[in-house]
Amino acid sequence: MTASDSTSLLHEVSAAVGAITRHLSVAQVLEVIVSSARRLVGADYAAIGIPDESGGFAEFITDGISEQQRLEIGPLPRQHGMLAAILAESEPIRLPDLRRDPRYRWWPKAHPAMAALLGVPIRDHDRTLGIVVLTNDLGGPDFTDTDTELIELLASHAAIALTNARLYERSRELTVVEERNRLARELHDAVMQRLFSLRLSTRAAAKLVDTDPAAAAHRLEQVDSLTADAIAELRAVIVELRPADLDTHGLVETLRRHLTLLDRLHEADVRFTADGPIDLSREAEVEVLRLVQEALGNAIRHAAARRVELDITAERITVADDGKGFDADEAATRGLGLLSMRERAKALGGHLEVATAPGEGTVVTLELPRD
Ligand SMILES: Nc1ncnc2c1ncn2[C@@H]1O[C@H](COP(=O)(O)OP(=O)(O)OP(=O)(O)O)[C@@H](O)[C@H]1O
Ligand SMILES: [Mg+2]
Repeated sequence: MTASDSTSLLHEVSAAVGAITRHLSVAQVLEVIVSSARRLVGADYAAIGIPDESGGFAEFITDGISEQQRLEIGPLPRQHGMLAAILAESEPIRLPDLRRDPRYRWWPKAHPAMAALLGVPIRDHDRTLGIVVLTNDLGGPDFTDTDTELIELLASHAAIALTNARLYERSRELTVVEERNRLARELHDAVMQRLFSLRLSTRAAAKLVDTDPAAAAHRLEQVDSLTADAIAELRAVIVELRPADLDTHGLVETLRRHLTLLDRLHEADVRFTADGPIDLSREAEVEVLRLVQEALGNAIRHAAARRVELDITAERITVADDGKGFDADEAATRGLGLLSMRERAKALGGHLEVATAPGEGTVVTLELPRD
């Protein structure tokens, strides 16, 4: 091979590797691998197969075969014959005519006739993630040593790209699941209780309509106010579920808006004071937002407070209410709120203090992490 040959080859390889590693979804990575492989060695056909656990292929993506041909060929191949051999080998398989090999079994009727074959496993340590198969038409050229090396090189990068893409997809799925669980819990806590009591009051009113209309009317007034509460809670949950506000307004402004809303929705006089912006990472901001919202939610739901105050400085954030206070040891067993506040404080590198006693009001202080 001349120097200019090897330079252009190097360019092709690095373009192929670049294309593979730029893609984040598994499906895209597979598409790029298969077309890069075919182009690199100038093969007539290329395929990439990802085995599943039940003897078939979870994915079998081809290049060089038309959509029409694919339909005629029929269902995805199973792990048998030559494909099984490539999967089982840790080394590439190269043949001048695959049909003459004892491991060859058969093709579906519509399958194009192929002779020269190069099959390379995509391996991550000792696990085979998939196989790359290149073939040429009958009468086409054999694959060379250089072809084999190129595809092995490509396969080693493909292994990394595939593993990354899988991890990426998995982590996104997990994030979505966590977010959904949290949402479900929050909706349950905030709204379900209200809806249950609403239903009870409605039933009670219905029973009283004939015998005691005045009592029924009183019940219906309760229904009205419970409905208002449920709407308010739901609104608050919806507001809370949109940390997109953090990007548009920043943490302090987001909290100020939340407070304005709470003040409008609830009996208690809800006040806000802030002394300059706070400097936190984006992740820490979300934790602080949720933590403060939980503290405010507790003050509003449990304290029967006249006043709730949120105070923000660069060092700490305080949520204080003048409500009925509580026994911290006993409360620990009741809900998840206080627990999640502690976890959040820890996650963001801060410190949480809850000062309270029955009849004393409650002050929740979050010391923010330094620098
Ligand atoms: N500011 C407060 N004033 C009075 N009582 C409070 C206050 N904050 C918490 N409590 C008491 O502590 C208990 C536990 O609070 P926590 O936030 O852990 O759970 P929860 O609010 O009951 O449920 P969750 O937050 O999981 O929806 C509450 O049920 C309540 O009795
Ligand atoms: Mg709570």
